[in-house]
Order: sequence, then C-alpha cells, then structure tokens
Amino acid sequence: MATGHITRDDQALDKELAGLLSVESFEPSEEFRAHATLNDPAIYEEADRDWQGWWASQAEKLDWFTPWNQVLDDSNPPFYKWFLGGKLNVSYNCVDRHVLAGNGARVAYHWRGEEGEERDITYADLHRDVQKFANALKDLGIQKGDVIGIYAGMIPETVVSMLACSRIGAVHNVVFGGFSAESVRERMEFSEAKALITVDGAARKGKTAAVKQSVDEVMGDLETLKNIIVIQAKGTECEMKDGRDVWFHEICEAAADECPAEPMDAEDPLFVLYTSGSTAKPKGILHTTGGYLTGASTTHRYVFDVKPESDVYWCCADVGWITGHTYIVYGPLSNGVTSVMYEGAPDYPHRGIWWELVERYKATIFYTAPTAIRACVKWGTEHPDKFDLTSLRLLGTVGEPINPKAWLWYHKVIGGERCPIVDTWWQTETGAIMITPLPGITATKPGSATQAFPGIKVEVVDERDGKPIDEGQGLLVITRPWPSMLRTLYKDDERFVEVYWKKFGKQTYLVGDAARKDKDGYYWVIGRIDDVVNVSGHRLSTAEVESAIVACESVAEAAVIGQSDEDTGQAITAFVTLQGTTAGTDEAEALIRAGVAERIGKFARPKRIIFADDLPKTRSGKIMRRLLRDIAEGRALGDVTTLRDPTVMAALEKQIQSEQAKEE
Ligand code: WT7
Repeated sequence: MATGHITRDDQALDKELAGLLSVESFEPSEEFRAHATLNDPAIYEEADRDWQGWWASQAEKLDWFTPWNQVLDDSNPPFYKWFLGGKLNVSYNCVDRHVLAGNGARVAYHWRGEEGEERDITYADLHRDVQKFANALKDLGIQKGDVIGIYAGMIPETVVSMLACSRIGAVHNVVFGGFSAESVRERMEFSEAKALITVDGAARKGKTAAVKQSVDEVMGDLETLKNIIVIQAKGTECEMKDGRDVWFHEICEAAADECPAEPMDAEDPLFVLYTSGSTAKPKGILHTTGGYLTGASTTHRYVFDVKPESDVYWCCADVGWITGHTYIVYGPLSNGVTSVMYEGAPDYPHRGIWWELVERYKATIFYTAPTAIRACVKWGTEHPDKFDLTSLRLLGTVGEPINPKAWLWYHKVIGGERCPIVDTWWQTETGAIMITPLPGITATKPGSATQAFPGIKVEVVDERDGKPIDEGQGLLVITRPWPSMLRTLYKDDERFVEVYWKKFGKQTYLVGDAARKDKDGYYWVIGRIDDVVNVSGHRLSTAEVESAIVACESVAEAAVIGQSDEDTGQAITAFVTLQGTTAGTDEAEALIRAGVAERIGKFARPKRIIFADDLPKTRSGKIMRRLLRDIAEGRALGDVTTLRDPTVMAALEKQIQSEQAKEE
C-alpha cells in the first residue's frame, strides 16, 4: 500500500467540482495526443469518404484463412452481410496468432478472485487450455452450429469456454451470473442449447452460492440439453447426474492436446446473447464472426488507444453482458493486450479494492459504469486516496448517461486530471462502441458521448417523419450498416425487422434511445424511449418484471415503471393490486421481491412497491404508465380524460401519501 497520500477534504472537493461545472470542454493533454495511435482529426473524413474501404482496412488487421471477395452485401436490407466469402477463426485471432508471433509469455489476464486469490494466465496458457477444452466439447459430440450455454461467472474458465466454442464453430450463449437459474433455463430453452457450462459454486461478497444445485432444481425437463459441464470453482458440493453431467477438468484431462481452429465463414454465428426488450420475452441478439471481430478489435484499439506491449487494461464489467464479451474478451484478446479480470464487487472486501488493484497491477486504462462511479463518490475520496493511481492514463464509462458531477469526480480523483475520459455509447445490438471520443483527438464535454466512431453514421431524427434534426431532441438512429451489427434475433427474423427496421424503413436502424445534438454536433444520449429500464447499467424490461410479479401468489395485476434514482440511474417501481381483499403488507412486499429474484434475478427486484386497489386504464383496458410515472415522481398529472375510471388516480394519490407518511 502506498503511503504519504493526503486525504482530501470531500467538502472542499465538492466545491471545486461545482466550480468546474462551468468548464464546457476538456482537451486531451499534449502529452497524450503526442503518443496516441490516432491523433489526426482527418481520420473522420477519410473514413467517411470510403466507409466500406475503412472497415475493410481494419478487417485486414485480423488473420484470415481465406480473403473475402465482397466487403458488404446490402442487397437484402436489413439482412446485411459483411466480408462475404472470407474465412477466419475468432479463437485463432485471439490466441494462436499472438503465440505464433512470439508473445505466448505475455499475460492475457491478471485474474483476481474475491478472496484475494491470484492467477496470471498467459496467451500460451490460453492456447493450451482452449485447445484441450475444444477437443473435450467435440468428444461430447458438440458440432459446428450447436448452441452452448455458459453460466459460470467471472473466472478464467468462462473465457476459455467462449474461445473453445468459437474454435470449433459452436455458438455460445452466456448468461450473466446475477440472473436466476430460472432465467438460465429459459434462455437454454429458447436457444435449444445442447450443453450448459456452469460452476459448482460462485463467490459473492464472502458467501458461496450453490450454482449447480440451483441449476439442477429447474433444468430437469429440458429435452434438448444433453450435457451439463461443471467447473470445479469453489469446491461446493453438488450432485452429478449420470450420463448428463461431467466435470470440466476431467473431460479436459481426457482430451487430446491439439485442436486446429476451424475456418469459419465470416457470416457464421459466433454467439447469441439475450437482452431485454419491450415485451416479457428476452431477445436473442445474434452476432457473427468476421464483422463482429472487426468491430470489437477496431474500437478497442482506437477508443482505448491500446499499446499491447505496455498497457494493462481493465474493464470492470461482467462477462455476462455485451460489455464483457466485447471489451473483456474479444477486443482485448484480438489486440493481444494484458487485462485485469476481477471476480468480485467494488466494495468487497473493502471500498477501495478497485484502487488497490489498479495500484497492484499498475493498470493504465480503466473502464467502468457511471453507477459505480456514483457509488465511489458516495463512499468518499479516502478510499482511492490510499492508493497510487498514477499508472492510469485513460478512463472510460459505459452503460448510461453520466452526470457531469460524477464525470468531474472521475476526472479529478481517479484520473488526476491527466487522463482523457471516453464516454462510450453503444448497445448489445451494435456489438461495439458507436458514439465515443477518440482520446487523442476529441475535446470531451462531461455528459456527452461526443461523436460517431469513424465509419459510423448516426443521426437524431424527428419522431414523426424521420427527418434529421440539426439541433435539439429526437430519436437516435444509425443510418449506415456497420460490421458488428446484430444480424437478427435468434430464430426470429420477423421480430428483428419489426423492432429495429420498421419505423423508418429498412436502411435506418432504430436505436430505442432519445438524443440531442448540440451546436458543435456533439451527441447527448438522454435515455430509452421504450419500456426498457436501465438499473445500474443493467437492462431490464418492465414487461418482464411485471410478468414475474404477476406470477407471485395473490397478485392480481402489476404495472412497472422506471424512476430516476440517484444511485442506480433508474430504479424499478411496481404498482401492484392484490387479489380479493388481501391487504398490502410488508410480508406481501417481501414475497414479491423474492418472486422477482427467483424468476429473473436479485438485481431486478423493485425498489419501491405501491399497492393499489386499481390501476389507471384506458377504456380499452390498457394500463396508462405515463400517469403512473407522473404520480410516482410527484408531478402534476397529464391528461386523464381517456381514463375508464378517473377516480382511480385520486385513490392512488392517497395511497402514495399514506406510504410516504409511513416512511417518515
Ligand atoms: C442501452 C444499451 C453496451 C453497453 C452496455 C449496455 C444505454 C449505453 C450509454 C452511454 C448513455 C448509454 C442506452 C442504450 N447506454 N451506453 N455512454 N450514454 N446511454 O448495453 O444493455 O444493450 O443497453 O444502454 O440507453 O440503448 P445494453
């Protein structure tokens, strides 16, 4: 631990940050600019002039077994195809080529367990383990095109599993460790997974969850699932079902050492990742091989300005989300970078653990979510101030708009005012970063993701006619195909077209966010326009939470909204009506929260539950969420004339007042 650090007075800091709020923009330092890979703004124009050529020149930085003969096939929009005829393998690009170039001894991951365990995994280690496990999968009869679930948390074996799938052409379907076993089952069912890779147990803040046991409780009747592969992670006891369950280490031991990488078509599926949409049924976002890897690798290289020989890069997301797929696994590995991979939470075993690890591994690049930064602001500067953070040279954020105060705190306290901050806007669907500063070029403005990445074209358009708006608020759209775009929703082309390409035609991708463009052409993303809520950077569908609540005993009806929340960005508020004369008790609240945890995951539990005798509905029976949002946030009610029963609102108002009185 470093000594001699002064503890800043948080109140004085607060004043100083308030003063900085009037600074409009922050230029990268001369020092940073001088060493940045991209530092000439002409790159934007260059990429724009021949955007297909730009992407082709980026794709060429990967190793291809067979070159492509067409960069983009746009003959059947919105089903775009990239790098037609090209053949490559993702695991080869992420592992083999670095070993072949003599960099096998380079650390791919400094892995750190929650209890302080440490493992350094080199590129040569990955090369050995991925081949072994790929052979083990083949021995189980897994073939190209088969879907394999992965529910194993933040351990190196998760990465090995993803790479092994890509090596043989199996399609992985990773489920975030915070989802419940029920959710895993649902995702395995939708994708007709042949096998599931999981762990005996997982660590979370000093406790161990019996993961395999929970999986067993729900998985029993899934016909398509032939095998469960269990990683012995924590030594948690579990049953192994004969003929179905196998140990990861045992099948690896029995497998042959060498497994040549399968040449895959550029358009062969690489993975499916389920995310929340407007309905209760999650969407299976499908990404393919050549385009996705091009997008992941290119954005990672330039947005984070990575220098593979010297940087230690750390993305604190979870591999179970798209951020983890692209910026813990495929981006950094394809670029041959050394990363930190941390299993635990930011406040365990103490609130300074992230900063302790920055010091320990001399991290140079740090990428996290605004919600985590807000938590750190709350915990105070005493925690980061205990550690030496001078190794850092670049910071990033992702997941939701960042409020300027948190941005400034990050800039000052973590970045020591020397590190550019890249606020990166993108989605599961886009596969890679779309709107972002280039750290050696762009002057940043706190709260704005700034400009489209070179080659990407975005616009803010009028909701009514789709015409571009030059200044002011509208809908964000992407008006040109890009390599890492989703190709479809798994087994549901129709919904794919309906959700993303119907509103403004088959050449305009509807993002689902509102945004504003300022006088300098900078983009400010405001938030979702659909029924998707962003809780601590976790994407949730209100419909999904509603259906989990309605499934609870004695619940008659539920309506869920997102309310702004100072810690988590948005928080879930649920309006619930109970059956018959059942009263809304603390016990009923507890049951509902437990039900949501079981059906979706703990992170989806409503923060606030308001019991009501009835919900505001239109004459045709549709719940008017707009009114619920107004009433929950204490705003004057909008138009109530379309309500079937206008007295409902007065009753609700009373309910909320008595709830507030109870709290006080
Ligand atoms: C939604 C996508 C891929 C990143 C992790 C979330 C919101 C994401 C930003 C940002 C403002 C952001 C948008 C987007 N979002 N990044 N920098 N500024 N909003 O991926 O779960 O697919 O959610 O997250 O609303 O549509 P996701």
